[in-house]
Amino acid sequence: MRVLVIGSGGREHALAWRLRQSPGVTELLAAPGNYGTAQLGTNLPVSETDLDGIVAAAVSHAVDLAVVGPEVPLALGLADRLAGAGIAVFGPSQAAARLESSKSFARDIMDAAGVPGPNYRVFDDPDAALDYIDSDAANRPLVVKADGLAAGKGVAMCATPDDARAAVQACMEQGIFGAAGTTIVVEDWIRGQEVSVFGFTDGVNLSAVAAATDYKRAGDGDTGPNTGGMGSYGPPHFWNDALAEQIRRDFMLPVIAEMGRRGCPYRGALYCGLMLTDAGPRVLEFNCRFGDPETQVIMPQLLTDPAAVMRACANGSLDDAPPVEWSARPTVGVVLASGGYPGPYDTGYPVSGLDWADDAAATETGGSLVFYAGINADADHRPVTAGGRVLCAVGCGASVAEARRLAYRRIDGISFTGAYCRRDIAELPALAPR
Ligand code: GLY
Repeated sequence: MRVLVIGSGGREHALAWRLRQSPGVTELLAAPGNYGTAQLGTNLPVSETDLDGIVAAAVSHAVDLAVVGPEVPLALGLADRLAGAGIAVFGPSQAAARLESSKSFARDIMDAAGVPGPNYRVFDDPDAALDYIDSDAANRPLVVKADGLAAGKGVAMCATPDDARAAVQACMEQGIFGAAGTTIVVEDWIRGQEVSVFGFTDGVNLSAVAAATDYKRAGDGDTGPNTGGMGSYGPPHFWNDALAEQIRRDFMLPVIAEMGRRGCPYRGALYCGLMLTDAGPRVLEFNCRFGDPETQVIMPQLLTDPAAVMRACANGSLDDAPPVEWSARPTVGVVLASGGYPGPYDTGYPVSGLDWADDAAATETGGSLVFYAGINADADHRPVTAGGRVLCAVGCGASVAEARRLAYRRIDGISFTGAYCRRDIAELPALAPR
C-alpha cells in the first residue's frame, strides 16, 4: 500500500512513523512533510493547501491511501477532491469538517445529539453580543470563540466583562480573524479537568478511544501566552475504562450518528475536547483531526495496524477491520520550542543532539523517540530550526514518572540557540498513584 500523509508538523511525523510500521505499507510519501518524514519516505514539494497539487501528486504516485493531518485542507475540501479522484482518504469531507470549521454548527449538532457542553449563545451582530455580555443572562466569566478556523487563536478566555467586550470588538469590529470572526459563539467559562479524546470512525462505527492531556500555555504552572501545545501525556492519571466508554458512547457516537442523519457522515479521526466538571463531562469542542502534540503521545500507544484501520474508515468498513487497541503504558511528550515562541522568534539555528537513535520498541520496553516539526536541513544537510515548535521528545515508560524522566533525558540532550521547554509536563497530579 502506498500511503500519502498530508501536513508538515510533529503530528504528521508521528502519523508517518506509525504508518511506516504497518506491514502493508510499501511506500510512504508526505506532502509537504518535514525533516522527520523525509527519513521515513519521500517528501513531495506540495503545500498542504494546494488541493490541485496534492490530488495531482496522489494520482501520479498511484497512492492507495491519503491521510490528512491538519484541519485547514479538510475545511477546504481536500478529502472530497481526493475521493473524487478515486483515492481512499482518511479524513472527513468538507461538509463533515464543519464540526471544527464552524463552532456554531458543532454546537447545533451537539444539541441535536443530546451532547452537553457549556451554555452558549451564537451572535452575528456585535451589538447583540455586547448587550448579552452586560446582561444578567450571561454567566460570567465568559469565553468568546470565533466561529471559523483561526489558526488556533480564535478562543479568548475572558476573566472580566471588559475582556469579553474587547474580544467581541476584536473579532467582529476589527476583524482580526477575517471572515472566521464575523459570527461568534459566547460560552460560559467552565472549570474542571481538560482532556483530549481521540477515536477512528467510518461514519457509523467508532473505535476504542485514547485520551491525552494538552499543555497549552507557554510557561510552567500554566502561565504565559497560549501556544499550539507545549506537551502532553497519556493516559492521564484520572482516565479509566468506564470514563472512556462513557465518552465514546454518550458523547462521540451520538455526534457521529447525528452527522449521518444530516447527510454528512463523518469519517476519519474524531477529536473530542472535554472538560470533566463536578457536574459531569462537558464538550468544549470537536475537531476533525488528531491533536498536536497529543498525536505524538498516542501513536506510540496504538497497537493495531494504522493503515488497515484508516483504510477501513475511508471505505466505511471499520466493523470488519482489526479492533483498535491502545497500550496503557504511560507516554509523555515534551515540546522544545524556539525562544520567543508563540511570539516572534528567529530561525536557522543549528540543532545538535539528534543523533541519539530512537528506541524502536519504545512502546513495549520503555524508551524515547523524537518527532520533528520546525526543523529543516540546511545546504549542508545539517538540521536547523525552522519553526516555533521545533520538536517533541516522547518518553514511554512503566509509569508516568519513568516516561517523564525518559522524555526529559532526551530533551536535555538536544540543543539550539534560544531553545526552551516547559519543565512541568506530566508533573503535579500525574504523579499520584494511578
Ligand atoms: N492540541 C490541541 C489541538 O491540536 O488543537
